[in-house]
Amino acid sequence: MRLSDEQLARFDEEGYLFFPSLFSPEELRPLVEEVPRLYAQRRVENVREKASEAVRTNFAAHLYSHPFARLARHPRMVEPVVQLFGEPVYMHQFKINGKMAFDGEVWQWHQDYGTWKADDHMPEARAMNVAIFLDDVNEFNGPLMLIPGSHVQGALDAAHDMSTTSYPLWTIDHDTIAKLVARGGIVAPKGPAGSMILFHSCLVHASTSNLSPWNRVSVYLSLCAVSNHIRRFHRPEHIAHRDFTPIACLPDDCLLREYDVPLPWKDRAPA
Ligand code: SIN
Ligand code: MN
Repeated sequence: MRLSDEQLARFDEEGYLFFPSLFSPEELRPLVEEVPRLYAQRRVENVREKASEAVRTNFAAHLYSHPFARLARHPRMVEPVVQLFGEPVYMHQFKINGKMAFDGEVWQWHQDYGTWKADDHMPEARAMNVAIFLDDVNEFNGPLMLIPGSHVQGALDAAHDMSTTSYPLWTIDHDTIAKLVARGGIVAPKGPAGSMILFHSCLVHASTSNLSPWNRVSVYLSLCAVSNHIRRFHRPEHIAHRDFTPIACLPDDCLLREYDVPLPWKDRAPA
């Protein structure tokens, strides 16, 4: 999938692109059916919420789940990022965020590059998130909030939040957020399952808790330009990958048909 000149210009200005209903219900089915099986497993790759057993985020399913291994090579998710960077990309991080009904907790305001720079020594902000909704996203189930245009600030000062949620993150102070919002406002792309958001790694984002009765499961591919691979290996491998092999895309129908994909972590011992 190639981005048009108009999309490229909008991305430069706003730092994100939204593609409603990019994937069909038939394409999503194998992914949606796989999530409960993955979340039920006791393994380090499942990070549970602070106050409940609900899975907050599942890491690296593309290395042990057949449908997600195919999604990780989907041309609709990977090719726009290759186009934007003008070079091959590798998978820096792969996560399936739960934001489960009633239990899904907040993600504080942050830039992903803040964490990748501080923790993983990623040299530049030449990495990008591509998220796909596995559930419908509405105003009640904790949609991702973005501050348009905030990516032009580069990496902002951040503090390591080790306490408010179960997953440590470098977060941005409230004064800075208020100033950025005064300039750019807040958007929260909402739409049917199968919608996709592509956003810059310096785009400031957050999400509230999910008090609704609807899950908000979304998959995030964090794709990094190969030449920009991380230099420090402090975080566990399932959170910050060390395999910098360029992703080879499968054909566009890879969620509808079986394709051979490697599953190197399939037989990993549970936690
Ligand atoms: C993230 O920022 O990595 C996740 C935010 C969310 O899923 O709401
Ligand atoms: Mn993030």
